[in-house]
Order: sequence, then structure tokens, then C-alpha cells
Amino acid sequence: MKTIVKKHPLAIRWFHWINFPVLAVMIWSGLLIYWANDIYRVGWGDKTVLKFFPDSFNKALNIPFRLAEGMSLHFFFMWFFAINGFLYVLYLFISGEWRLIFPNKKSLKESWQVVLHDLHIKKRMPPQKKYNAAQRIAYTGVIFMGIGSLLTGLAIYKPVQFNFLCNLLGGYEWARAEHFILTILFTLFFLVHIIQVIIAGWNNFRGIVTGFEVKPPTPPPVGEGTMEVHPLNELKK
Ligand code: HEM
Repeated sequence: MKTIVKKHPLAIRWFHWINFPVLAVMIWSGLLIYWANDIYRVGWGDKTVLKFFPDSFNKALNIPFRLAEGMSLHFFFMWFFAINGFLYVLYLFISGEWRLIFPNKKSLKESWQVVLHDLHIKKRMPPQKKYNAAQRIAYTGVIFMGIGSLLTGLAIYKPVQFNFLCNLLGGYEWARAEHFILTILFTLFFLVHIIQVIIAGWNNFRGIVTGFEVKPPTPPPVGEGTMEVHPLNELKK
């Protein structure tokens, strides 16, 4: 018999789904601002391999001449990003969920096995709780990226008032570059995350929407009906 198991607490689901559109607005409005002074590229000397971002990209997305709009959106929604992120991290600590998400001693070694498994090179996955080792590293990394985006953002928003922070980050130019790189990393995280979610399938996606997952009948269920198990309880075993 299939069983229904609890997976994601309500609070985590709210934080997750609030974060998604807010981060999307932050990236979008960041693009509107960046257009006004688009200095970054991949290349050497006079040779440019990739310009961030080509005119065709800007034109296709209707980005040019919207600096003021970008700034007002960015500086308004940053509050939601910061408050939602702060409450999420606070919740992780208060609820004990941090134990399921932060990497442990084995995570680095195991994450390599997860990669080999995902590439169909290895059959067996290392045993896991709520998240596998690669997920633990990625999800914890994205939390630090969020903190990094806020700090570098503050440093370039008010470089005089936050001059201590700005200097700590290597000065205005460095802080700006760090802010930009973090945004690129967020976009890459997002792409990989979506691919993994699609591969993991509907049951997994439903989990982050409803909070529950349906488990197949193996191993044989102990009792009848619905079983309410939370992964944190699994840790106590
Ligand atoms: C860029 C925005 C996003 C970020 C930063 C993000 C980040 C995260 C994080 C940190 C977790 C772990 C949450 C926890 O348990 O505390 C998570 C889980 C999850 N996310 Fe996202 N997410 C984003 C967008 C999305 C989108 C658009 C989807 C679906 C289309 C999605 C689907 C999922 C699913 C299904 C899980 C649960 C994975 C599992 O149980 O194995 N996420 N996400």
C-alpha cells in the first residue's frame, strides 16, 4: 500500500514560494539597472568572447532606458528578499531543520557519489535523509549566496554610510563585481534546480507545494492507512 509522508513544513513552503518571485524581480530589476553601465565581459585585452549583455539580448527583453524603474523595483523588493531570507534562516535554526539541510562530515565525499549516480555511472546512491549530499551543499550554498548578495548590495547601495563593509569586500568596484557574479550564480543555481526538479518528477514537486509525498509500497508498510512521518524524526533513530 502507498503511504503519504510529511516532507516540507508549511513555513518552508511559504519561504520557498515567496523567495522565487521576489528573486525573479530582483534579477530582472538588476538587469534594468546594469544596462546603464554594462562593464562586464569575458575576454582578454581587446578580445571579447562574451559581453554581459549583448545589445540583442537587451533589445529582445526591452531592457534599455529603464534605469529609474529598475532602481525603484530593486530597492523596494530587496526588503522582501532580506526579511524572507532572514526569517527562513531563523526558522531553520528554531525548528532544527538546519540538521537536514546543512552539509555534514560525509557530504563532500557523498556528493561526488550523487553526481556519479546522476550521470548513470554509479548505480547506488549513498543513504540520505531528507536531502542528498549534493542538495545539502547546493541549498546551503544558496543561503550563503543570499547573504552575500545582501551584503555586497548594501556596500554598493550606500558605499559611504557602509564604507566599513565596502572596504571589507575589497572596495566599491570589487563589491559591484561580487554582486554581479552572485547574480550569475543564482541564475545557474536556478537552471540546475529546475532541471533536477523536472528529473525528480511530479511527486517531488507536489511535496514542496502540498508538504506531502507519496511513498511506494516498498518496504512493506507496518500499519494501515496514512502514516505521518517527518524527516526530522528520522534523525532521532
Ligand atoms: C530561484 C529561486 C529558487 C531558489 C533560490 C530555491 C531554493 C530552494 C531551497 C533552498 C530548497 C530547500 C528548502 C528547504 O528544505 O529548506 C528548495 C527545495 C525545492 N525547490 Fe526550490 N528554489 C527556487 C525555485 C524553485 C522553483 C521555480 C521550483 C519548481 C519549479 C522549485 C522546486 C523545488 C522543489 C521541488 C524542492 C524540494 C526538493 C526535494 O524535496 O528534493 N524551486 N529550493
